[in-house]
Formats: sequence, C-alpha cells, structure tokens
Amino acid sequence: MAEKSKILIIGGTGYIGKFIVEASANAGHPTFVLVRESTLSDPSKSSLIDSFNNSGVTIIPGDMYDHESLIKAIKLVDVVISTVGLGQTQLADQVKIVAAIKEAGNIKRFYPSEFGFDADRSHIVEPGKTALAAKAQVRRAIEAEKIPYTYVNSNGFAGYFLPTLAQPGATAPPRDKVVSLGDGNTKVVINDEHDIATYTIKTVDDPRTVNKSVYLKPPGNIYSFNELVSLWEKKIGKTLEKVYLSEDQVLKNIEESPFPHNLVMSIMHAIFVTGVHTNIEIEPSFGEEASELYPDVKYTTVDEYLSRFV
Ligand SMILES: NC(=O)c1ccc[n+]([C@@H]2O[C@H](COP(=O)([O-])OP(=O)(O)OC[C@H]3O[C@@H](n4cnc5c(N)ncnc54)[C@H](OP(=O)(O)O)[C@@H]3O)[C@@H](O)[C@H]2O)c1
Repeated sequence: MAEKSKILIIGGTGYIGKFIVEASANAGHPTFVLVRESTLSDPSKSSLIDSFNNSGVTIIPGDMYDHESLIKAIKLVDVVISTVGLGQTQLADQVKIVAAIKEAGNIKRFYPSEFGFDADRSHIVEPGKTALAAKAQVRRAIEAEKIPYTYVNSNGFAGYFLPTLAQPGATAPPRDKVVSLGDGNTKVVINDEHDIATYTIKTVDDPRTVNKSVYLKPPGNIYSFNELVSLWEKKIGKTLEKVYLSEDQVLKNIEESPFPHNLVMSIMHAIFVTGVHTNIEIEPSFGEEASELYPDVKYTTVDEYLSRFV
C-alpha cells in the first residue's frame, strides 16, 4: 500500500482545526500542526496541545506571518490544510501560505480554509460577502500558482446550529417558541464536525478530488428549517409556537446590527433564506459529493445528533 501523505494543519488549535488534526492522526497520516508560541504557552490550550502530543502529532512552533517558519514546516510534509478563521484578515492573508507553498515547491495538495459554502457560487449580502470574497481570492491565487488543491465545502457545522436550533443567544434547543428566518422551506445541510474532518482527510490521497470542490451533502443531513423543527417537536412530544421573519425583516436586522452580529446574520440569511447549501448543481467538471465518494463513512445524522438534547 502507498504511504500515507504527511499533513500539516495551519489553524489546528481552532474550532474546526482540532477535529481535522484528530482525524488525520486517527487515519494514520504523519500529522504536523503549526502553532504560535503564544498559543503553546496559553493555559486554555494546554489540554488540546497535550491531546495532540498523546496522539503522536508533531507540533511545529510558527506563525503564518513568519515566512521562514512557514517554509520550514511546509518542507516537512506533502499536504497542507489551512483552517485559519474569520478573525481580522486571516482568510485573505492565506496568500502568504500560497506564496510559501510555491517557494517550497514540494506540496502535492493545498486545502485553503473553506469549510462552509462555495465561495465561487454563493450569493451572500455584506458583511459576509467580503469574507466570502477573501476565500474566492485565495482560490484564484492557488490556481494562478498551479498548486494542486481541494476546496472542502462542508456546509453547516452541527455544533453551530443544532444545540440551539439556530436560535441566536439560546443555550439549548427551544421548547416553547422558535423563530424562522424566511418561510423555513429552504433546504440546508448540517454535518457533525467529526464527519467533516473524516471526509476531508479521506480526500487527501484520493486522485478523484485533485483540483475539485468537494461538497458534503450526505442525504441524512439535508433538512428545511421547518423539517428540523418538526423533527425536534416529535422528539420532545410538544408543538412549538412558530414565528416567521420575512426576508425584508432579516435584511433590515443585518443592516441595523453591529459587527460581528451582522456577519453571523448575513451567513444565516445566506443559508436559511437564499439556500447556499443546496442551490448548487454539482457538476463533474468542478465537483464531487463526499458521501457518494465515501459510502463507507457512517456519518452522524441530524436525527441522531438532535437526540442528544432531548
Ligand atoms: N460551516 C460552518 O458552519 C462554519 C462555522 C464556523 C467557521 N467556519 C469556517 O471554518 C474555517 C475555520 O474557522 P474556525 O472558526 O474553525 O477558526 P478559529 O476557531 O478562529 O481558528 C483559527 C485558527 O487559526 C490559528 N491562527 C490564527 N492566527 C494565526 C497565525 N498568525 N498563524 C498560525 N495560526 C494562526 C488559530 O490559532 P490560535 O489557537 O493560536 O488562536 C486557530 O488555530 C473558516 O474558513 C470559517 O469560515 C465554518
């Protein structure tokens, strides 16, 4: 059997990054994580760093803004996965990673920080539009440098949506009243973070996913908001009061909200009203669907995930 690619994760101590690090190590890939010195000495990150060490993951001290440290880390591996976040200008600044990969010359696949909806084919209002444009610009930089890539369009993170049924400010799924953005009929896709990481790592040594967008749309995780609410109502044996916000009202709320609430709202609008998870026709020329590529993955369904909160 061919050797498994060595993988460097940049952003491995972040929300989705830690799942990717875990999945990479579990799948037997020699796994490296670039971590800033300040994070290595941050007590709130120490248990995560310990868990990396216990899983045989190699920590490389460095910073995406320190070119030499990037080059050094990149030269150790075959594949780079970035999971840097929405903070400041990190997404746009991934062009620095692209430049380092080009200079190092040894990388056979780069995964920019995507893990959402398709940056080239989705409509979103401001301020989400600017964040998505940064992801698209990084794609163009990768393609211009002819670096082999995979864009993972993971759709929604379960941990962001299901524990509250997407109700802003809630700490548990609602038991009395639920607010829907729009008419609640738009189909969305919500995936467990472990599965997002598993599918991502499966694509690494798979030639079918080179220079492709991979969409995570497992059939058991596609629901409209109304269907999600019905599923929850069945589980708790209770009918909830429903409030439907018109699209005009949602757009007005975005305009009147301060940052970063307006950013979150613009993403929610794109997902629950515009339908960016499901309104793209995946064509073989640019895309693949993960659960079709890897039918062996036993993913957690939305139904199973929601049962945890009953
Ligand atoms: N689909 C969804 O529902 C959804 C939800 C949220 C996010 N996302 C997407 O997922 C991607 C990752 O977001 P996230 O929320 O997981 O990110 P995050 O939690 O903010 O993590 C960012 C990571 O980048 C690291 N980092 C920051 N500055 C760095 C630097 N200068 N050098 C090296 N590393 C640095 C951070 O390290 P420290 O630990 O040192 O800070 C952290 O590990 C984004 O593209 C975002 O749009 C999708």
